[in-house]
Order: sequence, then structure tokens, then C-alpha cells
Amino acid sequence: MYFQFILLVLGAVLADEIDDHHTVSRVDSNKYSVEKEKKFLLYDVNFGEGFNLRRDVYMRIANTVRLLRESGENYILVLPPWGRLHHWMRMEVALSWRLFFDLQSLNRFVPVIEFEDFLDETENHPIDQVIYLQHYEEGWGTEYVRKFDERKCLSPAYSHYKQDETGKWKGWFYSYEDVRARNFKCVSIQGDSGTLRNLLKISNYTSMNTVMIDRGETILHENFGDVHYWNARRSMRYSNDLVEIGNSFRRKYLDSDDERDKTEMVSDWKKERARRNALGGPYVGVHWRRRDFLFTDNQKFNDGQIAIIDQYLCAHARHFIGSHESTFSFRIQEDREIIGFPIASTFNRLCPDKNPNCEQPSKWKIVY
Ligand SMILES: *[C@@H]1O[C@H](CO)[C@@H](O)[C@H](O)[C@H]1NC(C)=O
Repeated sequence: MYFQFILLVLGAVLADEIDDHHTVSRVDSNKYSVEKEKKFLLYDVNFGEGFNLRRDVYMRIANTVRLLRESGENYILVLPPWGRLHHWMRMEVALSWRLFFDLQSLNRFVPVIEFEDFLDETENHPIDQVIYLQHYEEGWGTEYVRKFDERKCLSPAYSHYKQDETGKWKGWFYSYEDVRARNFKCVSIQGDSGTLRNLLKISNYTSMNTVMIDRGETILHENFGDVHYWNARRSMRYSNDLVEIGNSFRRKYLDSDDERDKTEMVSDWKKERARRNALGGPYVGVHWRRRDFLFTDNQKFNDGQIAIIDQYLCAHARHFIGSHESTFSFRIQEDREIIGFPIASTFNRLCPDKNPNCEQPSKWKIVY
């Protein structure tokens, strides 16, 4: 504590010196990094994709922003409001990320901003460019190469974006009626977060301050399951409200709490360390697919929040049994890897009646 205090005081003295002797116009750019102009990257995902796949697409785009920042571009990621989701019973729109996730944690991976705040900050100016990602019409060819090319728009691009009478482009834009884009084009791409970084670094886009990528699910993870994948995933902590609801349910009905279950987490995910000694509450979590949203009296929460509370409970169970190839189950398995459960307690699945020895899930283990 004493040492920290001294450092702070020294820092203040130095800052004073700089203020006294150097005006902004005389900043030596070899000595001080001048803050680069802020740029905003927006994105959206195909209408048909559900909540849990969208969470995965976030990780891919967040890694693009990380790569852009590492290459010297001051990009901020604009969080796409949730809504109009395929599996959701209630057709809510324009839900902000803070209803689901802890923004402070997200911000520790790459800087993020809610769409509403982005609109305020840019005074609702049109977005400079929408890039609609699509596959190559001719297919992937014989070998997989990472590439992109501006191409004529394939269906359904023009049913989602149309020019208004002033020539500006109108699209869904998360249900916000007044949002427009100045330019719209289609780019065929095959690749990953790094390929998208390369696309945004070409001269066509470097002078633009706001670029929106639609059909973000078109790109893949650069290296699925590597440390960047897990860093992005670990930054996606649930909102305090949802964690509190989950914890009080555990205490009240499941005789479960973090201390006894050995599931305590440090408040900053960057300080998490590898461990495998989590015990979990005295219950089994099972993701048994029947149909979506059997809940009836939960008007307090939206469908995405209910999904997260369910996942949170399954993530804290002593054992978890998932559904085959389900993104809902994948997100639970990841949470359990982050909490630090033994592998055998997590990677299990229900088998069909006729095949009691069915193949068990791939073990995507956490990497630090
Ligand atoms: C970039 O701009 C050039 C010149 O207009 C164009 O030929 C090229 O296709 C563009 N590339 C992409 C990926 O948009």
C-alpha cells in the first residue's frame, strides 16, 4: 500500500511538469503517443441466428477489434442491440447489452459502447459504410484460402438494404428507424477475425470513422479455442443482476453457494488462473431439449435473461449433462471451464434411447 501511494504521488508530479513545460502543439510524437482518432466498428448477425450463436459471433468480432487495435487503429466495438430473435417468444427489440452482460468486464478485452451511446456520441450522423458479408458465389474451391473481394450483391442483400429518396441506405439497424448509412457494398469473404481485420485495413475503409459489418457470422474464429478465444469468452461475464438472481435461487432451492461449492471468482477476469478444483452445488444440471421457453410466469425477465439464468445454474452444478451440438450447452461447458471444474463433470451429453453409448462431446478445454 505504502509503495503504491508513493508511485501515485510521483505520477502526479510528472504530470504537472508536462503541463507546465509542454503545450499540446509541441508534443514530441516520438516520446508521447498521440491518441489516434476514434473509430467505431458496428456489426449485425443474420436474422435467423439465435442468442447463443450470436454470443459466439461477438467473440469473433471482438477479436477483429483486438487485432485492429494491435495494428494501431483506435477502434471501439459498438454492441448490437438484441432483439427480433428467432427463438424468443417475446418479440422484443433494442435491448441493451447491460441487461445481460457486465460491460466493465467486456471493456477489459476491447473497448465497447452500447448502440444508444454511440448514437449520442456521433450525433446520429449516417454510418460511413455498411459492408454486407457474403460467401463466394462460385463456392470455396478446392483449397481453403483466406480472401475477400468486392463483388456484386447476392440475394438477400438488397432485400435488407434499400436506398431512400436522398440516396442514403436504410436497413434494419436493430429497429432504429432513423439510422442511415452513406455507402453500402457487398464483399465476398472466406476467412476469420484476422481476414476481417485485413479487409478493414485496406485503403477503401481506412479513412472512414464508422463502419458496419453485416452478416458477421460469415467469418470464423482465427484459431478456435486458443487463448484469444478464451480471453474474449472470459470477458463475457453476466450482469450483476442476473448473477444475483442465480445465486439467490441456488441458496434458496439448491443448497448451493460459492464458498461451499468452491466456485468463487475473482472480480477481474484478467486475474483468473487455471484451476480444476471447483466442486459445484449438490445437484445435477441437465440441458434436455424439448422446446424453447416452457416458462410461463417470468414476465420480469426477457427470454435471453432467462436463458442466462438457466445456464448460470447449470454452470454451477456438480455435474452437467448437455445436449448434442447445442450452442446452449456449449456456453455452459465454457462457463464451467472458466469456473474451474474437473473435465469429467462437464463434457457429458444425453444419448438417444436406441444408442446408450453415443459419442460424447469434444472436450474444448480452457487455455490461459
Ligand atoms: C476497394 O476499392 C477498389 C477501387 O474502387 C475496388 O476495385 C476494390 O474492389 C475495393 N475492395 C473491396 C474489398 O471493397
